Amino acid sequence: MSESTTVSDQSTIQESFAKRISALEMEIKNTAEELESTKIEREEIRAKLFESLITNKKYLREVERLKKENTLLRRMPLFMATVMEVAEDYVLLRQHGNNQEFITAAPPELMSKLEPNTRVAINNSLTIVRILDRSVDVRAKTMELIEAPDISYDQVGGLEEQIKEIRETVELPLTSPEIFAEIGIEPPRGVLLYGLPGTGKTMLAKAVAHESKATFIHMSGSELVHKFIGEGAQLVRDIFQMAREKAPSILFIDEIDAVGSIRTHDGTTGSAEVNRTMMQLLAEMDGFRTRGDIKIIAATNRIDILDPALLRPGRFDRIIEIPMPTLEGRHKILEIHARKMKKAEGIDLMEIAKQTEDASGADLKAIVVEAGMNAIRTGAHEVTLQDFDKAIKKVLGDEDESSEEALRMFT
Ligand SMILES: Nc1ncnc2c1ncn2[C@@H]1O[C@H](COP(=O)(O)OP(=O)(O)O)[C@@H](O)[C@H]1O
Ligand SMILES: [Mg+2]
Repeated sequence: MSESTTVSDQSTIQESFAKRISALEMEIKNTAEELESTKIEREEIRAKLFESLITNKKYLREVERLKKENTLLRRMPLFMATVMEVAEDYVLLRQHGNNQEFITAAPPELMSKLEPNTRVAINNSLTIVRILDRSVDVRAKTMELIEAPDISYDQVGGLEEQIKEIRETVELPLTSPEIFAEIGIEPPRGVLLYGLPGTGKTMLAKAVAHESKATFIHMSGSELVHKFIGEGAQLVRDIFQMAREKAPSILFIDEIDAVGSIRTHDGTTGSAEVNRTMMQLLAEMDGFRTRGDIKIIAATNRIDILDPALLRPGRFDRIIEIPMPTLEGRHKILEIHARKMKKAEGIDLMEIAKQTEDASGADLKAIVVEAGMNAIRTGAHEVTLQDFDKAIKKVLGDEDESSEEALRMFT
């Protein structure tokens, strides 16, 4: 019983071994097949990789080429042009300077942004390279170019001494340069006017330009540094270039403290920009020493914060204070602005001058205008003393009252 059991056991074991072996053999076969196909796959991937490497190399070469082209384009001088017309596949441009019109193409990414009046930079082969942003567009607006302003000396009240001094330093070298040549001295190049706001500095500069028949270029220091960030130095260069082209000319730099103030040296980007503008200004001022037909008049309300470099001898020939008007000055200024006014009997402008001790020229003008407005409001045909009284209170009085009120609140 036990033997037969053993025999049958043995055969079962053999059978099961045979099964295991054949299963393993099957597995080996499968694995071998798998290995084979993996090998093939690997070959394929390797081929693909190789292909990619080649394409990659091709792209890298293309990038290199574009980079080179780009730097070349950047290095080449660019010209300015204005878009006249945009069609589907071409643009009609007009080039600045020579006014030539031509048809050209633009890269697709620029094409969609073009419209009539867009300003663009074009290269030597008249291809549009980039669109100029609007800040370049408005560059001309910082400079107010007036061929000859129509303000004369007799419209300026109470600054006789200052007018005399400016005429000597600015007007005379422009109108009679030979006088300086004869005596053998270098003609003065510029003056700096300083004084409180509204005392007539701007007006005076305009009057000088008028009387000397020079082109008047008006540039505002604060606009230069606040509206045209990053372009200040370039603008200064442009403005001086314009002064040279339009000579004889008077370059009036109003609010020069915005550019040339010592307070800006605080190491921020903004102040770095201002300092660059300032350096350019100094360079330009030193640069045209020999030109007799360009004069600089600068003005500031804040001479106390001006960079000493600007005040150094040789930069401005004269530094002239424009004071607040004296009693006589105020009388004159009132007369000037009320010249055409219909005044009621008994109005004495000298009396009004006495009542307006702290008024600047601008305040006095405002008082005259306000008095006139009061008369219009009441429907009268002439301006009365009450109209003036009210105007004085409004222009000078209110401010004091409100500041007194403010003081009371804090004490
Ligand atoms: N001395 C003056 N004589 C006549 N009008 C004056 C005088 N000062 C100022 N004004 C008036 O005030 C206005 C502003 O003066 P402005 O010349 O701009 O002053 P500032 O440049 O010194 O701040 C002038 O347009 C003018 O109408
Ligand atoms: Mg002014």
